[in-house]
Amino acid sequence: MLLRIDQALAPDELAEVRQLILAADWADGRITAGSQSGAVKNNRQLPEDLPAARQARHIVSRALARNPLFVTGALPKTVYPPLFNRYGGRSNHFGDHIDNAVRTHAATARHVRTDISCTLFLSDPASYDGGELVLQHSYGEQRIKLAAGDLVLYPGSSVHRVAPVTRGERLASFFWIESMVRQDDQRRLLYEMDMAITALRQQDLARRTTDAGESAEVVRLTGCYHNLLRMWADV
Ligand code: NI
Repeated sequence: MLLRIDQALAPDELAEVRQLILAADWADGRITAGSQSGAVKNNRQLPEDLPAARQARHIVSRALARNPLFVTGALPKTVYPPLFNRYGGRSNHFGDHIDNAVRTHAATARHVRTDISCTLFLSDPASYDGGELVLQHSYGEQRIKLAAGDLVLYPGSSVHRVAPVTRGERLASFFWIESMVRQDDQRRLLYEMDMAITALRQQDLARRTTDAGESAEVVRLTGCYHNLLRMWADV
């Protein structure tokens, strides 16, 4: 499932993250690449242990945790602490690759299975050319370039690349999620159901003049959602 979350960062958070990371010292992006992706990776990355990286990822993590769309779409069990990358000048692209299935967080030695890959765009798309996130599907390619502060979630199983940045600079945060529901199709079904129930509940409440609670049908459907989640969740 591909899920886009607009304005995952508020404007003041976006400005703060940009200010923090732009002032920091960047390293070669191959510091976190596996052997296949290392061969095609040409960008810069913010070392995880810098104070600026710590502060910036705290802002991103806090924004994600309060975002209901992120929570319902990803059903996160563990989120890899957000990383930051930068494309421009000579370090301007990342060729076709697939993300490693398991990432181990250096500081905590904690493993995260990468069910979902995430890119949070941090640059105004008008300020750079190229830099699209290109996902390969069985039915063709999809090119994604979002507004600063917007986030895209896509299956960790996707082959993808970042197209060369030919003008300006593309800043982004990227990270992975181990979901409580490992299978992408099951997550999609739960997400569809959750969104439909939420809409029904709102219609239901709008029609009522007294505080009679939700309709029996909404209660039953909500029960089905939770029973499916109980069946599939691994916590
Ligand atoms: Ni990748």
